[in-house]
Amino acid sequence: MSILITGGAGYLGSHCCVSFIERGYDVVVFDNLRNSNPEALRRIEAITGKMPKFEQGDVRDQAALETVLKRHDCDGVIHFAGLKAVGESSQDPLSYYDNNVIGTHRLLSAMSAVGTHRLIFSSSATVYGEPKSLPLTEEHSLNPVNPYGRTKLIVEDMLRDLAASNPAWRVGVLRYFNPVGAHSSGLLGEDPQGVPNNLMPFIAQVAVGRRKQLSVFGGDYPTRDGTGVRDYIHVVDLVEGHLRAYEKLSALGSSENCFSVNLGTGNGYSVLEMIRAFERGANQPIPFEIVARREGDVSEFYADTQKATEFLAWSAERDLDDMCSDTWNWVRKNPGGYKSASD
Ligand code: NAD
Ligand code: WQD
Repeated sequence: MSILITGGAGYLGSHCCVSFIERGYDVVVFDNLRNSNPEALRRIEAITGKMPKFEQGDVRDQAALETVLKRHDCDGVIHFAGLKAVGESSQDPLSYYDNNVIGTHRLLSAMSAVGTHRLIFSSSATVYGEPKSLPLTEEHSLNPVNPYGRTKLIVEDMLRDLAASNPAWRVGVLRYFNPVGAHSSGLLGEDPQGVPNNLMPFIAQVAVGRRKQLSVFGGDYPTRDGTGVRDYIHVVDLVEGHLRAYEKLSALGSSENCFSVNLGTGNGYSVLEMIRAFERGANQPIPFEIVARREGDVSEFYADTQKATEFLAWSAERDLDDMCSDTWNWVRKNPGGYKSASD
């Protein structure tokens, strides 16, 4: 029961380590720490009583991956490592193709070489592109509109081709909607470098006094209050979906050895609703100003959750108030993120 978690020191990966350790797995983290802090690993130990084994390395390094997979006799891999900023992917697409596509290619090559064939891949709802119908089902067309999304779709296609070529593979593709929140202990959470790109970490930094006010991107969308609507999902629910998905791999037959499932709640909340919910959770006002739309944003999207419910027997349990109060608990206890703790 040994599992390799690439990107395991990052936001989602660190929470995933907790769930897998608590379930009894031996967790090995493989991360180059490009966007994370080893303090997260100490926090995992503080929560679970067990320090994940840590191998610092880059997923583009196939030889290193082969060594690590063999050294720890890993049965499977949860693959989070990669770059994830949509705007940056348009400015520096080669880095995105390099880390996300080539990195995954090297990982799959290493897994093939050592005979490890179980994989869960972090995909994104961004692969759907502009929604043609809502809620978004897994059968919706795939037409990402930015380089980041295209790297995710290329990897998805690579995985489907690989699984079709060799019945030994067992692959789960998970398409995340908008993961937010933090571990309820306040020890783990999202710790973006620089100005946050995403809504929830930005709100949290305003709440804690690191930023003066939030800019709400667009107040004229055809939604109930004019602001963008998204399907926010608590990070702990999300990683529990990974446990279900990973354990489902062993029940798959060789002819249906690759699945894709949405991980969302099925509920859409507007930016203003998120602000109000956070104000309730933190018991303080969040100053904001409505500004122009952000280029590339769609007005509304949320998941169809039927496949996750039926196929994985999983659904999200935590609500918007949990997402906000856990984020507030994390940011209030760690106003400077992990950095101050590790200095
Ligand atoms: P994150 O940046 O916090 O974590 C990614 C981790 O991977 C970091 O620890 C980073 O140091 C590591 N990493 C990056 N490139 C690497 C490389 N070449 N070799 C080894 N390690 C490397 O991001 P996250 O929010 O935890 O996201 C994890 C995954 O989930 C990513 O693949 C992302 O695209 C995907 N995803 C995230 C979201 C989201 O909103 N957070 C939504 C959909 C999909
Ligand atoms: C949510 C809403 C913004 C910031 C992105 C990626 C997606 C996935 C999750 C990785 C939108 C509004 C935001 C701010 C705002 N990541 N907003 N002010 O764009 O739905 O999804 O992250 O896979 O691929 O595209 O998330 O949190 O950036 O935005 O008003 O300062 O908040 O316009 O309506 P998004 P987000």
